[in-house]
Amino acid sequence: MASYGFAFCVILMLFVGVTVPCEALGGRRSWRPKPWDPIIRQPVDGGEAADDGTRWAVLVAGSNGFGNYRHQADVCHAYQILKKGGLKDDNIIVFMYDDIANNDLNPRKGVIINHPTGGDVYAGVPKDYTGEQVTADNLYAVILGDKNAVKGGSGKVINSKPNDRIFIYYSDHGGPGVLGMPNMPYLYAKDFIEVLKKKHASNSYKEMVLYIEACESGSIFEGMMPDNLDIYVTTASNAVESSWGTYCPGMDPAPPSEFITCLGDLYSVAWMEDSESHNLKRETVEQQYQQVKERTSNYNTYNAGSHVMEYGNKSIKAEKVYLYQGFDPATINLPPNRINFKDHMDVVNQRDADLLFLWERYKRLEDGTKKKAEFLKEITDTLLHREHLDGSMDIIGVILFGPEKGPSALKSVRDQGLPLVDDWECLKSTVRLFEAHCGSLTQYGMKHMRAFANICNNGVSQDEMEEACMAACSGHEAKWSPPSNRGYSA
Ligand SMILES: *[C@@H]1O[C@H](CO)[C@@H](O)[C@H](O)[C@H]1NC(C)=O
Repeated sequence: MASYGFAFCVILMLFVGVTVPCEALGGRRSWRPKPWDPIIRQPVDGGEAADDGTRWAVLVAGSNGFGNYRHQADVCHAYQILKKGGLKDDNIIVFMYDDIANNDLNPRKGVIINHPTGGDVYAGVPKDYTGEQVTADNLYAVILGDKNAVKGGSGKVINSKPNDRIFIYYSDHGGPGVLGMPNMPYLYAKDFIEVLKKKHASNSYKEMVLYIEACESGSIFEGMMPDNLDIYVTTASNAVESSWGTYCPGMDPAPPSEFITCLGDLYSVAWMEDSESHNLKRETVEQQYQQVKERTSNYNTYNAGSHVMEYGNKSIKAEKVYLYQGFDPATINLPPNRINFKDHMDVVNQRDADLLFLWERYKRLEDGTKKKAEFLKEITDTLLHREHLDGSMDIIGVILFGPEKGPSALKSVRDQGLPLVDDWECLKSTVRLFEAHCGSLTQYGMKHMRAFANICNNGVSQDEMEEACMAACSGHEAKWSPPSNRGYSA
């Protein structure tokens, strides 16, 4: 049975070895919250005009499965910050699949943590939209305040007034032009931006701040986000790079040893730990952006970290964070900014975090058991499916553009300021053609969105695309996750 372990190691090295940054594995000091210096209590901070509006928030975890623990942990943690900040449950709308706290694999039943030494963040989180209710359409309806369009769930929507402020936070996997959802289809940039425009046209908020964590999350807004919607956005990564999971098994800082999954994501824990260690009546959105940007870059090394980006109306940055996240009276003595988390954080590429999870799970199964053998099969299938997706894309590129131009045509990145694709309907139908013949893209396959976009940008017809998919994938269609299982991702 030892051969299973060996086989797995070889496969793991093939697929992950290169992408889990090796420099991230060296011994470094763990990050610990710093004890605050007691400082003299400030008189109540003036300067911010009395604000009559209501604060609203929408929190979205776009994934499910225990291997994605960290996204729901992020979102639960965000809820606790807003709740402590004085936002009311009536005004916080949570989307989470809710399969983590009571998962068989959860070592602390009924509890979710978002930091190695952190407490429970699950208690009290409103279950507005869970399970199959976590959909892009429900998210749009909630943002637009359209109670009639919501399917299932608590029915809570953002019923905001012209003087209100809205905070939206999202955490999950993504790809060029898309954000993941646990139920198909994914969220497409074009649809999301249309929703924001419609909300703005309804004159039902004063200003909005969006924090978005996902791979290639910049691509949702690049060339797409107008600056006249009274919305300010920051994203975990630019349009062409991964975002990163952190507090992962075997890394530093590590979760408690009984956890086989990452607890958080780098950009997400950066903004939340920043919010918890400052007086948000005194910290500006700009100050938070700068601090999060520095920490998410892993202190300007970028070898295992990403570029935090900003979009929309940047004048909003001058405002204090508490206008969006509220104010926790317990933080009154904390400084407005500049608590530095100088220590390096070990991280793992979002797309390899699932493999890390499978590997940790595999290691813990008893040697020689049937269960271990079956689990290895599952891992091998996952890896083979990845290889199938990557390989089919390569073949499609060659069929459409020839052996020399194929690879570069699929990978080419448009100039900054241009959207991923001009015709978003073409992008969606191209994705559906691929899935019909080659199987579901899955969470991992979202990385190929740029290739589909480039196929559209190059004016390839749907007939040509279909022929290429058939040629690349004939015989494969039913083998791996046919779209009939879960629906098309577009
Ligand atoms: C950006 O926001 C500021 C402050 O709210 C506002 O005065 C300005 O008109 C906005 N800019 C645009 C282009 O809408």
